[in-house]
Amino acid sequence: MANKNIYVTMPTLAPLGEVTENLQKVWESGIMTHNGPILQEFERKVAEWHGLKNHVVVVNGTIALQLAIKALELKGEIITSPFSFIATTSAIMYEGCTPVYSDIDPHTLNLDPAGLEEKITDKTVAIMPVHVFGNPCDIDAIDAIAKRHGLKVIYDACHAVGVTYRGKSVFAYGDISCTSYHATKMLNSGEGGGCYTNDDKLHEKMKRIRFFGFSDDKSDIVEEGSNYKMTEVHASVGLANLKYLQAALDDRKKKYMLYRNLLSDHPALTFQKINGDCNYSYFPVIFDTEKTLLKVEKALNAEHIFPRRYFYPSLNMFKDIVPYVSMPVSEGIAGRILCLPLYYDLAETDVARIAGIVIDTLK
Ligand SMILES: Cc1ncc(COP(=O)(O)O)c(C=O)c1O
Repeated sequence: MANKNIYVTMPTLAPLGEVTENLQKVWESGIMTHNGPILQEFERKVAEWHGLKNHVVVVNGTIALQLAIKALELKGEIITSPFSFIATTSAIMYEGCTPVYSDIDPHTLNLDPAGLEEKITDKTVAIMPVHVFGNPCDIDAIDAIAKRHGLKVIYDACHAVGVTYRGKSVFAYGDISCTSYHATKMLNSGEGGGCYTNDDKLHEKMKRIRFFGFSDDKSDIVEEGSNYKMTEVHASVGLANLKYLQAALDDRKKKYMLYRNLLSDHPALTFQKINGDCNYSYFPVIFDTEKTLLKVEKALNAEHIFPRRYFYPSLNMFKDIVPYVSMPVSEGIAGRILCLPLYYDLAETDVARIAGIVIDTLK
């Protein structure tokens, strides 16, 4: 029998019955949206899970980034990573700001604090670093630079559910941290996102912007708001899946380590340097050349295995939307990096088979 297709990722899903238990309550109450009781429970429990208080759940991670920029009233240049998903850049542009790229560290794949300061101009208003593949940025260095220059920091923590830095959730850092609860993420509500802040006033402001800009008693419009609300149906899925978050994290780490043990010694391969804690949500492999990557990708595809070139290309290559500025490290890594399949239901025998195909192709 032909092998079934293996994709780069699959969602971690609670048993359907646990979702329908939540949906039953939605059907009984008739409350489908408007920050209903299930959304509030999801919002509170995910924040508690991370040891945090302030969490504003929205429709997706891209909107979380936009909400953060809007709430901080930023207008000007935002320094960000060229090694990310397009949403990091497009959120900045949608809010009328200008993305300015600064190159990454070739080992951690995160913004390199060493090059950051020279990108600061009199128009710079913020830094938006990305915890790439759940690997925390050098937060101490970035926050020190921001403080020195009076800049805001919004972390794109869309990959970083469950990640800690210096004993606290990574969501505790920066002015605002934004995450994603998209189907492919460690915790998913189908589509979803969240903003975390330690600033109570900013938290309340983000809640108002999410709900059309209404005042707390809904008698007036006090912010330039919009509709960023998550439905009760999506919150029902997220709340059910939350129970399985720790199991998903443990499982990812185990399979990540299995891949590492099977692939570590090969001279054509290198791996992301983990900066302390990570959620191991992806298994990125950096090849010696793009040619080797393409050969391995082809061999895997022939076996119905579909890894993903994530992130490719480097965002500074999208010349139709941003003027090109060379980012040699990011461009070099983007051309040679491939994420191998990694998800909860992936069998360990499949991890071994995939690693075996990689090694055989490199012979
Ligand atoms: C680094 C990064 N930022 C932002 C996003 C956007 O998140 P969402 O898909 O929830 O809008 C993604 C999505 O994959 C991402 O990988």
